[in-house]
Amino acid sequence: MSTDRSGLTTTQAPFIEEAQSKGELYIRQPYELYSEENQDTWRRLYARILPRWEKYANPKFLEGVHKLALPADRVPRLEDINRFLEPLSGFSAKAVSGYVPAFMFFDCLRERAFPTTITIRDGATLDYLPEPDIFHDVAGHVPMHTDKVFADVLVRFGEVAHTAAELAAQIANVAEREQKLESVIKAMARFFWFTIEFGLMRRPGGGAGDVCVYGSGLLSSYGEIENCVENLRVQRFPFQLEWVINQYFEIHHYQPLLFVIDSFDHLFEEVDRLEAWMREGKLGNVSPGEPAVSEADVRSFIDAVTREVART
Ligand SMILES: [Fe+2]
Repeated sequence: MSTDRSGLTTTQAPFIEEAQSKGELYIRQPYELYSEENQDTWRRLYARILPRWEKYANPKFLEGVHKLALPADRVPRLEDINRFLEPLSGFSAKAVSGYVPAFMFFDCLRERAFPTTITIRDGATLDYLPEPDIFHDVAGHVPMHTDKVFADVLVRFGEVAHTAAELAAQIANVAEREQKLESVIKAMARFFWFTIEFGLMRRPGGGAGDVCVYGSGLLSSYGEIENCVENLRVQRFPFQLEWVINQYFEIHHYQPLLFVIDSFDHLFEEVDRLEAWMREGKLGNVSPGEPAVSEADVRSFIDAVTREVART
């Protein structure tokens, strides 16, 4: 095994490259490989964002940070996190070597496993990272998974992916099946983006303009967590399903438009509605534009459809 000084740095981790070259998606967290610089990066990321969490994050997130005993001074071990997490919601963080195609990702959520990146961003670029790292996944996502209702939302989302595969299996014409699937995947990706990744919530007991943050893309970004609440130019609208599934988004800059839910119960109802709309055929031709649906994502759903056809 390599003991390269690059440790487990995003885009420069021999351990990850080796796993990928062998086609291993689910891996262990080789904790001994984190370099001192990796550890220092976590410390700096955590120390500077903590006051902003206290100011902007929703109360359930802050409770989650506390319940997980998320360490401030070193990269967390997933096994330590899971020891606290599993009894609370049944969820666990599961180390992966890279991108998990959409259906597999949602299917993991259904099984209460969260695919988790174990590399950490380069210490020279604390602010900007196009791909997830362990700070985004563990500090941004996992504390939310301690909340039972929020955890159930993720499981429900996984079930909706299965519904998508079941419905697609009923379409005999291959071209029509692929077109509909691509649209449904896009709708699901937009829903996920504007809620789990970049969602805002009305502050419990607060007025109409009083919001807090629950989306992990915001919770793991020192700059954007403040910007999304304080910048008067950011549009913040009550969650509207039809708008969300037809709204394109771009990942390389702060989000100019965000949607506000009332509560996690409200979010759960919206996932139910997403599935109902899917069954009614309302997701079969959403507006074109970002995000592009990758071939790997479509393929992962087609494989699920094939299994579904074989089963029925
Ligand atoms: Fe994320």
